[in-house]
Amino acid sequence: MAGTAPILALDGVSRSFDDGRIVGVDNVTLDIGRSEVAAVYGPSGSGKSTLLNLMAGLDVPTRGTVAYDGRIVPSAAGWTRLRGERIGIVFQDFNLLPTLTASENIEVAIFGRVSPAAERRRRAAARLAEVGLAHCAARLPRELSGGERRRVGIARALVNDPELLLADEPTANLDSASGAAVANLLLRLPETRRVSLVVVTHDASLLARCARRIRLIDGRVAEDMRTEGAIAA
Ligand SMILES: Nc1ncnc2c1ncn2[C@@H]1O[C@H](COP(=O)(O)OP(=O)(O)O)[C@@H](O)[C@H]1O
Ligand SMILES: [Mg+2]
Repeated sequence: MAGTAPILALDGVSRSFDDGRIVGVDNVTLDIGRSEVAAVYGPSGSGKSTLLNLMAGLDVPTRGTVAYDGRIVPSAAGWTRLRGERIGIVFQDFNLLPTLTASENIEVAIFGRVSPAAERRRRAAARLAEVGLAHCAARLPRELSGGERRRVGIARALVNDPELLLADEPTANLDSASGAAVANLLLRLPETRRVSLVVVTHDASLLARCARRIRLIDGRVAEDMRTEGAIAA
């Protein structure tokens, strides 16, 4: 039933490439619960990004099914709607448009769905404040540090008030202080926003703070560990 089902349910999901010669994800069955924090880790090439793309509906399984909130998503259009309304994605490579300000980069994510422009601007400002970057609204990406760009990416992913946030290596290539700031920000969201968080990472300090840790090897779930109790935020 909607609302009580896991936010995501993967059942026997595989994704291969090149007519099956390359295995991306191999027979993965797992649920992501509401307000759960799950880290996905494993060696390079183990299928982490492929798995995250399948969870976002940006890619389609070659076998198995992905259900969102209890329902198998029937089409690419269904996934597009979910990404517009209920899922936020923090991309590995920032994906900020270089000629737009931080605020504008966030506003474009809701262009066509939220109007007037002043309301888009207001929402962008609120999300920038939420990630501690209220003072950066008018800056271009090149005027921001790596950590600040990541936080703008998170603000953009939050602009539609998602119930599921997917992040691919959000602390990669950041110094430890900036990485910790990004980790602090992400890890408090499940509580402050009741968002489920799936984070691909090989950052040991971030991994250690995630209540659930899913280890992939060769596209398969090699380990799925849970720590009881609250995460250290
Ligand atoms: N579009 C693609 N075409 C062919 N092979 C791919 C594609 N995407 C991923 N792969 C392969 O699938 C495997 C898993 O890749 P990926 O999910 O990117 O791993 P990770 O994010 O863990 O480094 C790798 O062998 C990779 O080369
Ligand atoms: Mg990857």
